[in-house]
Amino acid sequence: MAAATVTISPRGVDRLLAGHPWIYRTDVTDADGAEPGSIVQLVDRRKRFWGQALYSSTSQIALRFLTRENRAVDKTFFAERIAAAAAYRAQVVTRSTACRLVAAEGDLLPSLIVDRYGDCLVMQTLSQGMDRLKPLLVEILQEQFAPRSILERNDSSVRKLEDLEERRGVLAGEPVREVVTEEDGVRLCYDLETGQKTGGFLDQRENVTAARSYARGRLLDCFTYTGRFAVGLARQCDSVLAIDSSPQALSLARRNQELNGLTNIEWREGNCFDFLKAADHEGQRFDMVVLDPPAFARQRAALESALRGYKELNLRAIKILNPGGYLVTCSCSFHVKESDFLGAIASAALDARRTLVVVERRTQSRDHPILLTVPETHYLKCFILRVL
Ligand SMILES: C[S@@+](CC[C@H](N)C(=O)[O-])C[C@H]1O[C@@H](n2cnc3c(N)ncnc32)[C@H](O)[C@@H]1O
Repeated sequence: MAAATVTISPRGVDRLLAGHPWIYRTDVTDADGAEPGSIVQLVDRRKRFWGQALYSSTSQIALRFLTRENRAVDKTFFAERIAAAAAYRAQVVTRSTACRLVAAEGDLLPSLIVDRYGDCLVMQTLSQGMDRLKPLLVEILQEQFAPRSILERNDSSVRKLEDLEERRGVLAGEPVREVVTEEDGVRLCYDLETGQKTGGFLDQRENVTAARSYARGRLLDCFTYTGRFAVGLARQCDSVLAIDSSPQALSLARRNQELNGLTNIEWREGNCFDFLKAADHEGQRFDMVVLDPPAFARQRAALESALRGYKELNLRAIKILNPGGYLVTCSCSFHVKESDFLGAIASAALDARRTLVVVERRTQSRDHPILLTVPETHYLKCFILRVL
């Protein structure tokens, strides 16, 4: 069946010319005949061809751009894109059996996530278009990677915007719940069924490795989740205190400590904001503090309060650092720009009357590519700072 044609407005064309792969519903002037989740041809009002895209009948993001070319968008097309994504990972992921193999827009495969955890793959199809392609994608992943198992973690709430139900389960191979990976010499166990995201925060992998150069003495890992930073830095430190509000996450964190034969980590269930405040009053001091909170601004409207939250959190952390100590501070809120985040940290440093040096300006690991013209793909900000 011939692909349907969707007409886009001049503003929609401008977005494509600016290198952005999303066209909003308000820039679609005619989508008659386009089926939910189908691959459509894009034309402007003069019928000029602009490329091909995935069509969504419900999301505000009506079109997700796939290619400028007028070629078959078929199994070969997707197999080539997935192979290209994997070839890049082979270059940048050298010491880890876990990585993000396909990072959606960042790999020109909009709304498709594929994470590798050892010999298992976990995928998310987050739009009507990618969801419809699921059987084809599973076939390609089996052919290219022969994994033990392919699971879907389509329990993300963003699927609601696409009128897709939340699902999780086995798509191919055997059911697998727990997997142990080896990342830069550290063994980490993931719960692929109930862990956050597809199991864990693979985007922080390179930041842990970077922080290792500076870790020593007494480490405080706030928002530790399953202990990626705590376990990854413990060998460099005398003692580690790691805090999270989730008891499930902490039980996996304890497993991670055991897997690595570590004995110097104390896990504490609690609220990091409260802990930091109390720690300052009690005069506790640390040589490194890691802050990796959940996104404070999920929507643009929450930006102001998010910046106040980041300032408050960083202020409390800066106060309890020893002179010469390091702050590893992160924001995974896309809406908080790097400069705004740095501004919040600077304001916190001034209030704390401490002088800080920016040692490293970092972001998500390289297997989560940032497209130059797509700001949404740059979501993780991470600074390593030293207190003078
Ligand atoms: C972005 S994740 C941390 C990821 C972790 N650093 C890693 O690299 O795997 C945020 C964590 O903060 C925890 N959390 C959320 N609010 C909290 C709070 N007020 N106090 C302590 N933990 C909290 C969540 O349970 C979650 O595990």
